[in-house]
Amino acid sequence: MPKVVFVQPDGSRETHQAPCGHSVMDCAVDNGVAGIAAQCGGGCTCSTCHAVVAEPWFSELGAPVGDEADILEFVPERRASSRLTCQVVLTPKLDGIVVHVVEEEPGSGSG
Ligand code: FES
Repeated sequence: MPKVVFVQPDGSRETHQAPCGHSVMDCAVDNGVAGIAAQCGGGCTCSTCHAVVAEPWFSELGAPVGDEADILEFVPERRASSRLTCQVVLTPKLDGIVVHVVEEEPGSGSG
């Protein structure tokens, strides 16, 4: 099973595993990772599963497209390698993927 490393804004790290075919968001929610609220349950409508994907995994995944790209446009904390983690499906190639949980800006109103 691929491992996923979640890095919190304070630098603390936690590593969890999830089966291939599950999303990074599934892995976060199943393990109670702080900062990944996933309010829409993976429907690609809420942006509360946003995180920044480290290299080389972001390049492996590629930039977001479609609804995901549209939603990310409205995320104030968006970075160049931001993704909605519900749209990142785990494969063997993503083993060890590092995702940075992003602190929501106070008053940004998302969610
Ligand atoms: Fe809502 Fe990913 S869980 S957009």
